[in-house]
Amino acid sequence: MENFTPNTILVTGGAGFIGSNFIKNFMDCNPGCKVINLDILTYAGNLENLKSVENMQNYRFIKGDIADSKLVARLLTEENIDAIIHFAAESHVDRSITGPEIFVKTNVLGTQILLEESRKYWNEGKNKPFRFLQISTDEVYGSLGETGFFREDTPLAPNSPYSASKAAADMLVRAYHETFGLPTLNTRCSNNYGPFQFPEKLIPLMINNIINKKPLPVYGDGQNVRDWLHVKDHSTAVETVLKKGKPGSLFNIGGNNEWKNIDIVNLICDTLDKKLGREQSEGRQLITLVKDRQGHDKRYAIDAAKIKNELGWAPAHKFQEGIIETIDWYLENQDWVRNVTSGEYRNYQ
Ligand code: NAD
Ligand code: DAU
Repeated sequence: MENFTPNTILVTGGAGFIGSNFIKNFMDCNPGCKVINLDILTYAGNLENLKSVENMQNYRFIKGDIADSKLVARLLTEENIDAIIHFAAESHVDRSITGPEIFVKTNVLGTQILLEESRKYWNEGKNKPFRFLQISTDEVYGSLGETGFFREDTPLAPNSPYSASKAAADMLVRAYHETFGLPTLNTRCSNNYGPFQFPEKLIPLMINNIINKKPLPVYGDGQNVRDWLHVKDHSTAVETVLKKGKPGSLFNIGGNNEWKNIDIVNLICDTLDKKLGREQSEGRQLITLVKDRQGHDKRYAIDAAKIKNELGWAPAHKFQEGIIETIDWYLENQDWVRNVTSGEYRNYQ
């Protein structure tokens, strides 16, 4: 097992859902490490997510594009970066169906530019200890039938422009390791839930719509299955891979926690009915089966045995508790939700 201890890391996309949770958790556990956050602040990036760390000495935010090679080169040298944790991406499948181009630009070209600047920097540094950690997704494997799990050796079969762009980026990461020896790592995680998720994704969208008594759009028959993991567990997994993963390796991350979409929606409805003092089944009456997503993957399920056996990582959050805490967070942070849905947060970024 490797033992890599970075002094300064560059996090891309650190103002988004997972990146901001990662930065806060990582800084809590690694107070001696400096964190540079490079984020262009798309609709999904929000500096409010980072209020608790913004004034810390060992934190620096840079508004900028991962595809800006000069900026990336300057930051790597100026901050003497030991590792890049690459979260920045266009991440929403539905948006990739209506507008795929930006997914290729950010997820594929952006990743290649980061890799290329990392390669030059690492070569100039006479191959100093360095890591490039690509944060990827189980969606690159495509869709499962009723049984089976995605393993690290499952062939790639992405079905949406989003997952195709992530698969392409993963292949570039692999190529930079194989061709140039760049010390890369690659993780592929299942669906995340938790605080600060933009309310276009299933769980926060449903919570928000129930609170506001708006229809709950469930795609198709609601029988599609996703494997849910708390964002804090994803963060600890990424930190574990960064510190202990052997360069060139790939790890699946998941919580062994499969749910049909309709069951999750029902659970959120029933929980909120109680919390809001509404009639039993008032929430469920808002459920509306709508036209299915094009190319909608039927089922995702991760086999996370490798990260458990090789690196000793396991999730710490139980879904039944994590989902209640998440619902409570959205109830208590309605201003945050209003800001991100109205776009108001852009006024002060
Ligand atoms: P998100 O959409 O919430 O955040 C993405 C962040 O990247 C935003 O802050 C955005 O401003 C930033 N960004 C976008 N383009 C950029 C650019 N050109 N330069 C700099 N910054 C840019 O995404 P998320 O849900 O937090 O996902 C983060 C990563 O994790 C993505 O790579 C995604 O593919 C992966 N992932 C997500 C999930 C999930 O369930 N959300 C699961 C597995 C993997
Ligand atoms: O599996 C990891 C992936 O999980 C990440 O790589 C993506 O970045 C992330 O967005 C997520 O992708 P999904 O497409 O699985 O997540 P989403 O929340 O968009 O949808 C979850 C399921 O719920 C999916 O089967 C589609 C369905 N759905 C979604 C929305 C937004 C609905 O039925 N209604 C909706 O309104």
